Amino acid sequence: MRAPIVFLHGFPLDRRMWEAQADAGMAIDLRGFGERRGALVRTIDAFADDVIAELDARGIDRAIVCGLSMGGYVALAMHRRHRTRIAGLILADTKATPDDDEAKKGRAANIVRARSEGPGAVFDAMAPKVLASQEHAPAMRTIAASQDPEAIVAALEAMRDRPDATAELSAIEVPTRIVVGSDDRVTPLADAERMARAIGNATLHVIEGAGHFSNIERPEAFRHAALDGW
Ligand code: MLT
Repeated sequence: MRAPIVFLHGFPLDRRMWEAQADAGMAIDLRGFGERRGALVRTIDAFADDVIAELDARGIDRAIVCGLSMGGYVALAMHRRHRTRIAGLILADTKATPDDDEAKKGRAANIVRARSEGPGAVFDAMAPKVLASQEHAPAMRTIAASQDPEAIVAALEAMRDRPDATAELSAIEVPTRIVVGSDDRVTPLADAERMARAIGNATLHVIEGAGHFSNIERPEAFRHAALDGW
């Protein structure tokens, strides 16, 4: 029997962003998001360890981990820290490189915004850049606005300080699919191509007409590219 697919969400959403794919596996809230409140974690490695603990609690030994954007950062850290638990990777709209100075400034602005105006305002500031069309923005905003502002801050700190995962890509031997929206302006096609070249066992799939949240904007094409045929 093949390993289950575990979905890890992007920022500033929670597992509900995988609604259109939910029947294909199980979506887990990262620590602090959705229903997994409680003590916050502030590094990508700690998010990764926390997902492994959740897999333990659910009796899952090995999983195909599908992470979008922040979820992809966590998936790469899970592979580095818990390799034997990973049966495959789906790296969607994500990248291996760390934040540059401009991105770090954006994190600082969003930390202030999360505390002063709330997580909904953090999403509003991102929406024009992360979506190819604004059709899904209201539903996504509802999910974002329901998050704990301090969990948003913790995730921003974790993403700001995440290590460069580039050197680890060549060590990935499990089957890997790299998926990217053709209009992704946060983690664009060039990042996806670099990852696909560095990972020996990877295939690259471009979702035409989708932005950064390709699973939400083009659910059928995403399913075909990322989920079919494992
Ligand atoms: C995400 O979608 O998870 C974020 O845009 C990732 C990031 O800000 O680096």
